[in-house]
Amino acid sequence: MNAEMSTNLITVYVEGKPLAVHAHDSAAGAALKAGLGYTRTSPVTGEKRAPYCMMGVCFECLMVIDGIPSRQACMVRVREGMRIERQTTVGGVEVWP
Ligand code: FES
Repeated sequence: MNAEMSTNLITVYVEGKPLAVHAHDSAAGAALKAGLGYTRTSPVTGEKRAPYCMMGVCFECLMVIDGIPSRQACMVRVREGMRIERQTTVGGVEVWP
């Protein structure tokens, strides 16, 4: 990592754990960097899903960001202190524990 890259690091919280990411990263990128095996569950089958296209097409990256559900994490740029969490509920109801 060069000096310019290291100065652009910010801290986000992925599933409550702090993580240093680059200021230009997406929330989905931060989730992948954190090693989350999945970022949401299907409300129909409970299947674990994860970011796929990383360009706003597939909607596999829906996550809860700063408490707001169903955000397309690949299209959201990180900011200092952002809270990024898996989406495993529908309308706030846990459907597949
Ligand atoms: S990863 Fe496909 S829309 Fe986000």
